[in-house]
Amino acid sequence: MTTTHTNTTTSSKRKRGYLNLVFFFFCLLFSCSSAATDSTPVGYGYNLLSVTADPSGDSLIAKLRLIHDSPIYGPDVKNLHLLASFETKDRLRVRITDADSRRWEIPPEIIPRKAPNVILRSRRETLVLSSGESDLILTLRRTSPFTFSITRRSSGDVLFDTAVAGITPGIVFKDQYLEISTSLPGDRASIYGLGEHTKKTFRLVPNDTFTMWTADIGSANPDLNLYGSHPFYMDLRSSPAGATHGVLLLNSNGMDVHYAGSHLTYKIIGGVLDFYFFAGPSPLSVVEQYTDLIGRPAPMPYWSFGFHQCRYGYKNVSDLESVVAGYAKARIPLEVMWTDIDYMDGFKDFTLDPINFPADKMIKFVNQLHQNQQRYVMIIDPGISINKTYPTFLRGLKSDVFLKRNGVNYLGSVWPGDVYFPDFWNPNASIFWAEEIANFRKTIPVDGLWIDMNEISNFIDPSSENKLDDPPYKINNAGVQRPLNNKTVPASSLHYGNLTEYDVHNLYGFMESKATHDALVNNTGKRAFVLSRSSFVGSGKYAAHWTGDNAATWNDLAYSIPTILSFGLFGIPMVGADICGFSGDTNEELCGRWIQLGAFYPFARDHSEKNSARQELYLWDSVARSARKALGLRYRLLPYLYTLMYEAHLKGRPIARPLFFSFPEDKQTYGISTQFLLGEGVMVSPVLSPGTVQVEAYFPQGKWFNLFNFSQMVMASSGEFVTLDAPEDSINVHVRGGKVLVLQESGMTTESGKRSGFELVVALDEGGEAKGEVFVDDGEVVEMGGEVSEWSLVRFSAGVEGGEFKIKSEVVNGTYALHERMMVKKVYVLGLEHKVAVGIHCCSNGGSSGVPEINGLSLLLGEGFELKVKVTALSL
Ligand code: NOJ
Repeated sequence: MTTTHTNTTTSSKRKRGYLNLVFFFFCLLFSCSSAATDSTPVGYGYNLLSVTADPSGDSLIAKLRLIHDSPIYGPDVKNLHLLASFETKDRLRVRITDADSRRWEIPPEIIPRKAPNVILRSRRETLVLSSGESDLILTLRRTSPFTFSITRRSSGDVLFDTAVAGITPGIVFKDQYLEISTSLPGDRASIYGLGEHTKKTFRLVPNDTFTMWTADIGSANPDLNLYGSHPFYMDLRSSPAGATHGVLLLNSNGMDVHYAGSHLTYKIIGGVLDFYFFAGPSPLSVVEQYTDLIGRPAPMPYWSFGFHQCRYGYKNVSDLESVVAGYAKARIPLEVMWTDIDYMDGFKDFTLDPINFPADKMIKFVNQLHQNQQRYVMIIDPGISINKTYPTFLRGLKSDVFLKRNGVNYLGSVWPGDVYFPDFWNPNASIFWAEEIANFRKTIPVDGLWIDMNEISNFIDPSSENKLDDPPYKINNAGVQRPLNNKTVPASSLHYGNLTEYDVHNLYGFMESKATHDALVNNTGKRAFVLSRSSFVGSGKYAAHWTGDNAATWNDLAYSIPTILSFGLFGIPMVGADICGFSGDTNEELCGRWIQLGAFYPFARDHSEKNSARQELYLWDSVARSARKALGLRYRLLPYLYTLMYEAHLKGRPIARPLFFSFPEDKQTYGISTQFLLGEGVMVSPVLSPGTVQVEAYFPQGKWFNLFNFSQMVMASSGEFVTLDAPEDSINVHVRGGKVLVLQESGMTTESGKRSGFELVVALDEGGEAKGEVFVDDGEVVEMGGEVSEWSLVRFSAGVEGGEFKIKSEVVNGTYALHERMMVKKVYVLGLEHKVAVGIHCCSNGGSSGVPEINGLSLLLGEGFELKVKVTALSL
């Protein structure tokens, strides 16, 4: 290995060493916090000793040697092993770990991935890894300290570079402290992700620290670490415009990620540096590549796209019944009724309060819901009450499935008082959990489960006993460097297989989601619906997510959009915020605007806190009107939403997407946090502030048709802001020209709409063309798009040419649709300025919608068809 040390470098290093020595003694006298060390180098980096690569250009291995020890956060690891490999053409992994001893890494059973032990078929010295097929190039540098960069082959753009001016050293690698930085072209890079946090904007704002340590901190608190951990970001460049890549640091330990605009620094308290770079180059392809690694989102049942009503504080079964009746009376669709911990006997999971929620009444109530084609979901918490008369507890004790500290079950405290927590790393815990769920379902056949408090939330603060509870570097927990143990289980508690809570803390919600999901699928034989508060990389394979405890404020309404869009990036597309706000009293105007927006969250649930005013949507006439209108459109769009679920499951594509997903070259879209898209071309532009009946909405280039009133159109010849009317009971939702949307009738339940005929809304683009597709199945078969007989996929393309409007379908798989005799009944044509001539008997010059429609059709969805209609005086 050759390194060029000039005298100046050596002498400046000596000086640095001396300063650190002084700092070290200073720290002995006055304990130094991590904040105090922000400007002090915490290490000196590593030199590159050797590098060998496979001649294919697919992988290389390098050895790194510590330059010298540094005084803070513990001793440095002497030798590092770097592995880089192209796992796919679009995915490059760079993993750096201790060459001499094994460290904690997320096991492949949790997130399946390739083994990091690459066997080089033959050896070649090279500093550049560049696989012919990939757009990514990795370059190692023999600088001292060693650094590396990743560039995009097609443009030469540097995507990631650990040599950051003014930041030393390249890499810090200690047992409880790892640090690495990348430079960023501050003026050209828009960064998204790094959750879970509540932020005012979707695009991250420089000079902010993103802490990842799962915590029971309400989402009403902006800028703090919340319930989930997602060390993934998307970097969208404004030049070349729209070029996007993604970066995952696959690490479950606590960390701070500081985003400084010109660079980004990771400060992690354990594990390894395991980076995955996703080449993109479009935002959509980044998410596809990311979820290809972490797992595609679980398919959600059709019914879960209906409207959900919940509250913490429902008093008894008749309270629940009156809410269901209230919705029916107001003709507002209610699909799913929920109950919070109120139903439990003494807050014990899998029990019923014998006075207020007795089994006989509950069974009757749930049966009635099912008869009405409605559903029922209940909450369960991880903490199992310690109580010798509680069978669940006794069974858990017998199977020895609880989390341990110092060799005994760790004693926590949650709603029921003293509790033990199931340790889902123990295979017996999943068996125990599945049996409890199966037993409980014999009494109450719940349709889905809501798993809360799984960060894990603990009402007491465990003491610190060792360096796991109290590591040398303090992450910015709760925004004020709270101890790791703050309101959770101690970092020194032990899981099955001697895993420390310190390492696997951020994975508890993930593990519980998996156990709950698998238990439900096994017990019901149907697709599972699990809603989890805590989440990690890959949780979308098992669960949906809601944004947790927001507040009934206008800010919380607005901030729900950035969070929902972030979860789309994280591979958890089924996400929503508590509609009308969880804590604090909502009000008529806020709740009205919230259901207008919430009706277009992928997961739409009204939920509130015990001490707040009631907020069922029928309680105010104006809110009920908004609900009927907005949910009415949602229910019409169900085939579209469900097809988006299929796309999400198949490819990882988010359901709710930022505007730049469809318009990556339009820089104006990069900073938009107040509007979003459902899929590719349905745009939601809500009112987010009080006292206004207008909304200033951005329209990317194209023709946009109002979905409530097909004849209203915005023509944006280039992207532009347009002031739209938004009367008290209305939200603006537009479809972009170029889309064929597949709709059904809206009903009081998803089931009733599902039986109606299909309507095609053909929104023509400037060239007079449109495309779309629909996926159908029974809505709850376990695998979405599995057995060919169980589903159908049909694509549509439409166009106007030579005085003729034509729409044809291409059936990818028609079996299910044919079996169910599903029919297309009507076609609306949007974007023809003049009326469709009466060319064939089925056509009219504009029905109730005021736009040309072809009605009276009975076309089998599962059979290819082509429909042609003469148009006169065509003008597009
Ligand atoms: C906290 C959850 O975030 C909230 O939604 C729920 O109502 C309460 N726990 C009570 O279970």
